[in-house]
Amino acid sequence: MKDKITQLKKAKNAIILAHYYTLPEVQDVADFVGDSLALSQKAAATDADIILFAGVHFMAETAKILNPQKKVLIPDLDAGCCLADDCSAERFADFLKDYPNHTVLSYINCSAGVKALSDIIVTSGNALKIVKSLPENEKIVFAPDKNLGHYICQTLGREMVLWDGVCHVHDRIKPEQIASLRNEYPDAQVIAHPECRSEVLALANFVGSTAAMLKHVAQSQDKTFIVVTERGILYELTKQNPGKIFIPVNASVNGFDGCRSMKLNNLDNIYQALVTEQPELILDDELSRKAKKAIDRMLSY
Ligand code: 13P
Ligand code: SF4
Repeated sequence: MKDKITQLKKAKNAIILAHYYTLPEVQDVADFVGDSLALSQKAAATDADIILFAGVHFMAETAKILNPQKKVLIPDLDAGCCLADDCSAERFADFLKDYPNHTVLSYINCSAGVKALSDIIVTSGNALKIVKSLPENEKIVFAPDKNLGHYICQTLGREMVLWDGVCHVHDRIKPEQIASLRNEYPDAQVIAHPECRSEVLALANFVGSTAAMLKHVAQSQDKTFIVVTERGILYELTKQNPGKIFIPVNASVNGFDGCRSMKLNNLDNIYQALVTEQPELILDDELSRKAKKAIDRMLSY
């Protein structure tokens, strides 16, 4: 299957972009694996005719917004993200009515409709840098992840109005789980994603996006790491750091450990999507243009 996918990619001038949370075999067939920031940068720069996005819906949508002339495929249209799904553009527009004169910052994990209502998009990889660049007295609304929003406020010592949304995968992780793993592995460093609750982040030695975690581990002299995010990242961590030990944290939602949507991507549906060039992501042109402004502002940083 891997060979067939590789041949098809070549024949159709297609590129496969995959997130670190996807299955190992999916990461293996990807031309590029990255965090949300690097994936959007890659999508903006590609000269492929077809972009197959092995990730979740908002990621493929971002790729389409950046490449309206290209065909963007998503292996399973049901691969959503609760952060994006729980913040509809209609409800967000209503919410914003209470906050005129605010700059609207949205985490990239949101729909095109919410992006179109935003001034700047951020990812967990650049949020601190972007918020820091805004004048101290600028009023900010941040959506849809209140955990990431809270982390930004705490780290930079400033206030933002937060939309009440969470990633159910990261938000389920409890501080007691970290404390108990710390007892078991006293020499381990705790590395955590900022989508986790503040009580969990308070126990971490390092907080950062998936790509930032990989960079941090590669530069660290330590040997053992408790990895407080979706366990799909362990594949790349282990590949890059053969001598190091990685302890995953159980992040179960309804009995499924991890992000179910990310795991909807597999070799079969990737192959089928390349053969049939379906499901294709289609977006309204006007909405796409509005959303692109906010993404372009992020990419200019
Ligand atoms: P990053 O890849 O930006 O760290 O985000 C993690 C995530 O949950 C993606 O949805
Ligand atoms: Fe969305 Fe959470 Fe899955 Fe990331 S891990 S795609 S934030 S549901």
